[in-house]
Amino acid sequence: MSKNLIIYYSRKGENYFGGDIRSVPKGNTEYVAEYISEAVGGDLFEIETVREYSKDYMECTREAKDELSNKARPELKRYLDSIDGYDNVFICGPCWWGTYPMAVFSQIEKIDWTGKKVFPVMTHEGSGLGSSVRDLRNACKGASVDSDLAIEGSSAAGSSAKVSKWAKGCVE
Ligand SMILES: Cc1cc2nc3c(=O)[nH]c(=O)nc-3n(C[C@H](O)[C@H](O)[C@H](O)COP(=O)(O)O)c2cc1C
Repeated sequence: MSKNLIIYYSRKGENYFGGDIRSVPKGNTEYVAEYISEAVGGDLFEIETVREYSKDYMECTREAKDELSNKARPELKRYLDSIDGYDNVFICGPCWWGTYPMAVFSQIEKIDWTGKKVFPVMTHEGSGLGSSVRDLRNACKGASVDSDLAIEGSSAAGSSAKVSKWAKGCVE
C-alpha cells in the first residue's frame, strides 16, 4: 500500500472571510490538510516558523510581500530531513501573493524528491493555485507533480466531501 505524507502551512489569527476580517484559532489550510489525512490516511507535518508572522492581517501581508521580494527562506521550528518511505506527498498552503508562503520553500528545498508523487493544494481568496504548481515543479526536482486542488479559504472548513473525493482519486 502506498504511504502518504501531508505537509502543510496554515496561519492562525486575522484573516479575510467574504470581505470581513475575523480572527480564527485554526487556519483554512489546516482544515483541508486534516480532511486529506482523514480520507486517505497519512502523516501530517505542520510547517511552523521560528518568527511568527503578525496576527494582524494587513501587517502580515506586508511581511509576506517582503519575504517574497527577497526570496526569503524563514527559519522553521523543525524540519523533515527525509521523506524516504513515503510515496505520495500533498503540499498544502495558503496563497500568499500568488504562491506558497516562503516558509513552505524553506522546508521543501531541503528534501530529496526523487521518485515521489507530489499533489499541490492551495487555499486562496480568488487567485486559485497562482504559480504554485510551477513553483513546486522547480523546487521538487525529480518528483512528478500530479493532480492539484484549489479551495476557497472561506469554504475550507466545509470542504470535507470535495477534498476527500479528490484525495482518494489521487492515491488510487
Ligand atoms: C499574507 C497573505 C497574502 C495573501 N495573498 C493572497 C493572494 O495573493 N491571493 C489570494 O487569492 N488570497 C490571498 N490571501 C488569502 C489567503 O490565501 C486565504 O485566506 C487562505 O485561505 C489562508 O489560509 P490559512 O488560513 O491556512 O493561512 C492572502 C492572505 C495572506 C495572509
